[in-house]
This record gives sequence, C-alpha cells and structure tokens, in this order.
Amino acid sequence: MKKIPYGRQHITEEDIEAVNKILRSDWLTQGPTIPAFEKAFADYVGAKYAVAVANGTAALHLNAIALNVNPGDKVITTPVTFVATANCIKYCGGEVVFSDIDPETYLLDIVKVRKILEADKNKEIKGIIPVNFAGRVVDMEVFRQLADEFNCWIIEDACHSPGGYFINSKKEKVNAGSGRYADLAIFSFHPVKHIAAGEGGMITTNDEKLYKRILNLRTHGIQQDYSKRIYDDALWYYEMHELGYNYRLTDIQAALAISQLSRAKEGIAKRKTIAENYFQVFKDEKYVKGQSGNVEGHAYHLYVIEVERRKELHKYLRNQNIYAQIHYVPVHLMPYYRDQGWKEGDLPVSEKYYSTCISLPVFPTLTDEEQNFVVSSIQEFYKK
Ligand SMILES: Cc1ncc(COP(=O)(O)O)c(C=O)c1O
Repeated sequence: MKKIPYGRQHITEEDIEAVNKILRSDWLTQGPTIPAFEKAFADYVGAKYAVAVANGTAALHLNAIALNVNPGDKVITTPVTFVATANCIKYCGGEVVFSDIDPETYLLDIVKVRKILEADKNKEIKGIIPVNFAGRVVDMEVFRQLADEFNCWIIEDACHSPGGYFINSKKEKVNAGSGRYADLAIFSFHPVKHIAAGEGGMITTNDEKLYKRILNLRTHGIQQDYSKRIYDDALWYYEMHELGYNYRLTDIQAALAISQLSRAKEGIAKRKTIAENYFQVFKDEKYVKGQSGNVEGHAYHLYVIEVERRKELHKYLRNQNIYAQIHYVPVHLMPYYRDQGWKEGDLPVSEKYYSTCISLPVFPTLTDEEQNFVVSSIQEFYKK
C-alpha cells in the first residue's frame, strides 16, 4: 500500500488552470482575485466581511492587534490546538491563560472558562479564543453570553471548520465564522485544511470597524480609504496611520483557493462519509475509549479516536505506511510555555486526551480500499 497521510490536498485540472490564468494576467498580487475570493468566502460562511491574509497565523496576529491586546492583558484559550492560536497573544505582549477541555467534545469546557473569569478579580482577562478543534464547531452562542457577562471579546479559531456549523438555542444552523456571535473568526488554507492554497488565511467578521482596521493592518497600516488622507490629496500620495504588516495573500493563491472553494461542499460530504465509516466500526471496539463520533455540523478536518497503547499503535501504523498523526502536543507543555510556569498536571483532561488520541486519515480522495486498510490495520494491532 502506498503512503496514506492523515490529510492531503486535492488538486484538479481546474485548479491548475485557475492558477495558470493568473500567471498569464497582469496581477500576481493585490489584484482583483483577492476581493473575489473574499466575497466568495464571506458568502460561503455567511459573514458580512472577509479579509484574505498570508496564513492563519497572520490572521490571528491581526485580530489580536485589532482587538487592542496589550502587555498585561490576559486571554483564555485551549491547549488542544496548534501553537499559533496562543502565540498571537504573546506577539502583542499579552498572557495566555490555558483552560481545560471537555472530555466528550475535545472543545474548551465553558464551565471551567467561567470559573477562571469569576476568579479574575482585577479584570485582566480581555478575551477568549475558542477553537473548533478537529472541525467540531463550538457553541458560540453560549460563549457570547459568557463573554458579554465579563466584557470580553471572542476570536473564533475556525481553521478546522470551514463549512461546519452548530445548532443554536433557536434550533438554527450557525456556520463557523459567520460572525453572528464571535467578534472575529479566522481560517487557514494550509494544504491539510479543507481549502488548500499552499499558504493562506482569512478573517471574517460582521463588525465594519474591525474589518476596516484589519484591511489597513494587512498592508503596513497604510490607509486603504483614499478619501481619508489627511495631509495631501495628490493622486500618488498615501498615508500610514499605524504600524501594520505585509500579510497579503497573492492572487495566485487566491485563484487556487476560489477554485477549491467551489468544491468545498463535496469535500465536506466526503469527509462525513469517511467519518461515519470510522464511527460505525469503532463504536463497538472495546479498545476505543472515545472518538470524534457522528456529530451534526462537524466539518471533520480530523477524525480522532482515543485508544490505549497509542504510541505503539502509531508506530505500528507507520510501519504499514499509514501516517496517522497526533493533534496536538498540548500547547501549555511546549518548552516556551513551561518556561512561563505551565506544567504537567495543570490541565488534566487535555493531558489525558493527549496520552490517548490519534488522528486517522481523512481527506476527500481517501479511497474505500485505503480506509479499509487503515481500519483492518488497527483491528489487527489490537488482536495482538
Ligand atoms: C487551529 C489552528 N489555528 C491556527 C493555525 C495557523 O494557521 P497557518 O498554518 O495557516 O498559519 C492552524 C494551522 O495549522 C490551526 O490548525
């Protein structure tokens, strides 16, 4: 069997043609493909505004700046995420407060977040970054109520969940990144994600002020609205109003992303079928202690099972050419965060999850034969 990764991009002839078209055009960057992608993506998730950026990390960084994270400010997030989620707070000199996950959903446990907020007598906590881990969308309605109670903002890290949704108290489907409850949401277009652009990111929001500020921050803090120039009205003249970055996406990447986006719904449908197959097999296996399961609105970026002897299983699968992966080494146990006082035992649910979790291959072009091979290899391992 050839190598089976845990995630893989799917590039079609249409994708290649879309990129070629840009290469033959006048605009490799800052051209019309960027707003076209932003419009298509905003429509896909149901948000008012979208800003395309260089990657998901840049999206997080710009969000933290736009929400005025300053030295001394504290922000709550989960340790079961990629390091970038937490690091954006450190970029701005803030402190990260890791809070434990719910063992069933693998998402931030709102009861524990509330306890942390209640204990914050000096009101140092300014925001919360829930993560739609593995593609399961956080109930952002209840997080909004909590955030409002404690005067906090919310960034929804939706990197794993474009096309996913949760059901709110009115039984409505609320899309990840729709901006209905979170102030800002971010996405990544890294090749293992649903929409592959090589590198790429998106910020979505319904807040016009934040949108405009982030547009300026994406390009060095240079005022994008030329009618607002203060000191001169010459055609060539531009003004920088605050310290920004070059966090732009190229038109080449945007063209690939638009082409991919046109197949995103099919991709999710395929991921759901794969997830359902895993669920049906593993729900009756004694060695499986937990799994992503069959969850409405889940975007299945990852399909996780929790098992004993995880390390040996991982090695066994690797020998079969199956590249299952572990998501994630808990962020609070990274040497960088240990140096700031975090240690083993601080977040027991996340740490226990880390000791048993393994992400199985899920991507739209995974064949039945490949998935059957993954399943039978795991079954074979536990027979021993
Ligand atoms: C949950 C999460 N947040 C943030 C990021 C950062 O995105 P990027 O790799 O595009 O910078 C990633 C991607 O790896 C991620 O999985």
